[in-house]
Amino acid sequence: MTILIKGGTVISSTGADLAEVLIEGETIIAIMSPGSDPAVSAEGGADRVIDATDRYVIPGGVDVHTHMSLPFGGTMASDDFESGTTAAAWGGTTTIVDFATQAYGQNVRECYDARLAEAEGECAIDYGFHMIIGDVNDASLKEMDLLVGEGVSSFKLFMAYPGVFLSDDGQILRAMQQAAGNGGLLMMHAENGLAIDVLAEQAVERGETDPVNHGYVRRAEFESEATHRAIQLAKVGAAPLYIVHLSASEALEQVAIARNKGANVFAETCPQYLYFNLEDHLDQGFDGAGYVCSTPLRTKHEHHMEDLWTGLRTNDLSVVSTDHCPFCMKEQKELGRDDFRAIPNGIGGVEHRMDMIYQGVTQGEISLPRWVELCSTTPARMMGLYPKKGVIQPGSDADIVLYNPNHPWTISVDNHHMNIDYSAFEGVTVPGKVETVLSRGKVVIENETYLGKKGDGKFVPRGLSSYLI
Ligand code: URP
Ligand code: ZN
Ligand code: ZN
Repeated sequence: MTILIKGGTVISSTGADLAEVLIEGETIIAIMSPGSDPAVSAEGGADRVIDATDRYVIPGGVDVHTHMSLPFGGTMASDDFESGTTAAAWGGTTTIVDFATQAYGQNVRECYDARLAEAEGECAIDYGFHMIIGDVNDASLKEMDLLVGEGVSSFKLFMAYPGVFLSDDGQILRAMQQAAGNGGLLMMHAENGLAIDVLAEQAVERGETDPVNHGYVRRAEFESEATHRAIQLAKVGAAPLYIVHLSASEALEQVAIARNKGANVFAETCPQYLYFNLEDHLDQGFDGAGYVCSTPLRTKHEHHMEDLWTGLRTNDLSVVSTDHCPFCMKEQKELGRDDFRAIPNGIGGVEHRMDMIYQGVTQGEISLPRWVELCSTTPARMMGLYPKKGVIQPGSDADIVLYNPNHPWTISVDNHHMNIDYSAFEGVTVPGKVETVLSRGKVVIENETYLGKKGDGKFVPRGLSSYLI
């Protein structure tokens, strides 16, 4: 089966060109100037021709931070692999990297095997895994080496959530030394969890139990301090470091300082931190629970959002991921009605990343190629998926999105495909729309219809990061 996509503007991380894309089976086999191969361009030259006139043709989105069915705070993230990856496809994302989780006291191998089995046959798009190491010990360190050989080449550690996931500095250093030896990438949830818990307890003692207090106690200083500490430990441990879900200017400053010295330090941010703030979203009575996530939304009275956009331009922020971790208001976020500490942390957004960041293009924050670079090419490179994913070039998987740049529409719980009973993005009118999505050569979204099925998505073993300095 051959498919020719013609008439569109192909966007890469380096530019935009009118070009035709030829696909055979699951793979891109040629990129051609329009009409340069008359035999292929002619009617009947390919089994199927997709007209991309006035559309951007972009590599499928790569979202390297999602949590399908994550157990958290006595409940579980409400999207499973089927619903979450289907929603991702609707939003133009064709690969996710989710997490297998080892919590304190658990065995890494057992946790990883169980997670692999949970996803098998369930996903609509391709997927890989990072491993969360919640209990750094001799056995888990050894497993890290084996996992790298199996295509799990990144490990998330936590400086937050004491008693569940938190690693102390000695454990972090040991894991970094291990990653330095096996080539893996260390991902860090950089917030000082012990300090946060002190402020959280004091807030509750004062009767300050509303969701907004989640934002007040998770202070920017705690993110900045942890980011600084992680960077220093990574320097000593000689490991590359990737800071996840960065939201505070002060933390970004720490990343910039390290990068200016040439360190292998990288960071991602997420759409919620670029568009939402503490006052307008988190501080609205219990409805604010829908915006409880960690790191938290930051105050609009400082310049976090502007600084994050600047970081996306300077490459001190190299990736936009979603940290998709949805919980319904009913029965899930509600667990914390009397105490913000019991609100499960997370926002669902896997469906909206491409549109929200394209909005940054139309607002003049970033360029069109930078949109593709932040949402597809760099995440693929960072996480060892490139050039199979993240680029439209011969030999790459035919993961392709036809994007209509002039189709404004309004996001709502009534039109999203994620399994959540509210939308954190409710009422946001975005300027463009994902129209057609190909996942390894199969058209999975077309004419507002989902044509794929669970099991279309396959596990992708990842190599080592090809983004390191
Ligand atoms: O609030 C968040 N980010 N929930 C998901 C877990 C994590 O720390 O990434
Ligand atoms: Zn985290
Ligand atoms: Zn996360």
